Amino acid sequence: MRRAFIAGNWKMYKTPTEAKAFARELRSALADVKDRDILVGVSFVNIAGVVEELKGSQIWVAAQNMYYEKEGAFTGEVSPVQLKDAGVTHVILGHSERRHIFGETDEMINKKVRAALDHGLLPILCVGELLEEREKGETEKVCKHQVVEAYKGLSREEALKVTIAYEPVWAIGTGKTATPEDANQVHAFIRKVLAELYDQDVAEKTCIQYGGSVKPENIDALMAQEHIDGALVGGASLKLDSFVRIVRFQ
Ligand code: G3P
Repeated sequence: MRRAFIAGNWKMYKTPTEAKAFARELRSALADVKDRDILVGVSFVNIAGVVEELKGSQIWVAAQNMYYEKEGAFTGEVSPVQLKDAGVTHVILGHSERRHIFGETDEMINKKVRAALDHGLLPILCVGELLEEREKGETEKVCKHQVVEAYKGLSREEALKVTIAYEPVWAIGTGKTATPEDANQVHAFIRKVLAELYDQDVAEKTCIQYGGSVKPENIDALMAQEHIDGALVGGASLKLDSFVRIVRFQ
């Protein structure tokens, strides 16, 4: 009953010129795919060109971050109002690179989720444990904490607008993927957390993507798992053939 949702996170790759050309190629390569949701998450400077290229297509565009204030003296930041006006539909929030390189806290992420929803953007909330946390058996504890903190103050209707991306940090860009079964177990656990926070219906309707070294070789097995509804793809989303194959998972 959950619709598959495949997202590419281009991170800090591609210039505006490259991003536009790539978006054009993706559009034509995926024109016939209508039974699943597709999105690309692009750098701020690439938003305008990519939105223009994908206008009228079924591929959504996301920002990879934003600030939580509507406007103001926040040099270097981008607001939800600016993003909305620029034509993005979604915003990736709480990515592990934001948490661990740029020091984003759960409190900031919660404010960002709140602000995104207030301004009509759909959040893709990233959660996931570090290698040492996994080794200490803390995966569930960490993911639960990140989910609970990010959803603070959200109504049931708002919660239903959030997509979660489970990205074990040790699997990002390393070539190591969680086994489909391991990932599925964490996804099932996250669903349980949502059921506790809200109810079974929210738990069952929420799309939970897996992220971390997703590639053409492992997408089919990941998507075959009951609780894996999609993927947030980094490196493999930068090349046409591999991203197209991932979107066309079987
Ligand atoms: O957001 C996607 C991501 O962090 C995973 O990156 O390169 O391991 O697919 P990658």
